[in-house]
Amino acid sequence: MSSIRIDPAIESAIAGFEMPEHLGFGVVMAPVMYRCDYQDGRWWDGQLLPYGALQIDPAAKVLHYAQEIFEGLKAYRVGGGDVTLFRPEMNWERMNISAQRLCMPEIPRDIFMQAVQTVSAYCQDFIPGNSGQSLYLRPFVIGTQADLSVAAANTYSFLVIASPSEVYHSGNMRVFIERNDSRAAVGGTGAVKVGGNYAASLQSLRTTRAQGYDQTLWLHPADHRHIEELSGMNFFAVIDGELHTPALSGSILPGVTRDSLLRLAGVNNMAVRQRPMAIDELLQALQSGSCSEAFACGTATIISAISALGEASGECYEIPAPGPVAQRLRTQLLDIQEGRGADDFGWVRPIDASCYP
Ligand code: COI
Repeated sequence: MSSIRIDPAIESAIAGFEMPEHLGFGVVMAPVMYRCDYQDGRWWDGQLLPYGALQIDPAAKVLHYAQEIFEGLKAYRVGGGDVTLFRPEMNWERMNISAQRLCMPEIPRDIFMQAVQTVSAYCQDFIPGNSGQSLYLRPFVIGTQADLSVAAANTYSFLVIASPSEVYHSGNMRVFIERNDSRAAVGGTGAVKVGGNYAASLQSLRTTRAQGYDQTLWLHPADHRHIEELSGMNFFAVIDGELHTPALSGSILPGVTRDSLLRLAGVNNMAVRQRPMAIDELLQALQSGSCSEAFACGTATIISAISALGEASGECYEIPAPGPVAQRLRTQLLDIQEGRGADDFGWVRPIDASCYP
């Protein structure tokens, strides 16, 4: 493990923290955070600090040119047992792919793992214990160099904050088909996790909400015909008993939950198809009944069944939800994540003893 300095004020920050009764998602912030700075071509020692505001130069590149990447993963402690993480290596790998895309320095594996494990270990008493709840971890990197020229920064901060949370979206979702805006272009940043993708989704979210829907379904930026993803979730449909999801197109984020569900479906002997999925073909399949269910998945939301797909024209296709495939996969995944089911894939990672206070 790389070395880490524990701020002496951590103890009182933890002692003074009270878990509210209602958590929501990403609203309550855990009292500690991790920080590691990059300067002179290297990452320096990490620090565990009380959660608090950052001091940042107003000319920092992140504030002007959006040089920011992030990840989302969860620490679990359902039933009060040991704290575990789910596939954190995948988040580390994806974060470094995002870093390459935005010309940022990669995060060494031991720094990433120590950061997420130490924050989880110090927050062990703030990991909610009911099924579906967790400590949502948000690692992120920002370009901090104060200089308005458009170029990669030469200084960065890697931070991890955490939030005791419920699922991102509980219940079924009504989804709006976005036929005009694009979330991200092929060759752009759609396949990596950068804050700018989410900023670009907000205009459509406003339309989506105004039309009475919960989430936007994005189509391929070049043809506006093929399904991509929802702004923070991947898309699945069950067609003729097979599990279909859009093939990674270069502008779809390769989700950790997406990958996990594809593998679990294989274990269930369910045929899995990753392919270009035309929206109009899906709507026809819904009308003919060959598409029996649709759902979205992601770390924050786990699996959310889709109960309606709607158009700006006012047309709306109702879908029976939640469907049996979504329910079964959700149960299987949560059983593994929360320690009730056999971890046949070796996805669950305990926290190293050296990370605890
Ligand atoms: C996650 O599922 O971790 C995400 O990043 C989605 C988020 C934007 C809520």
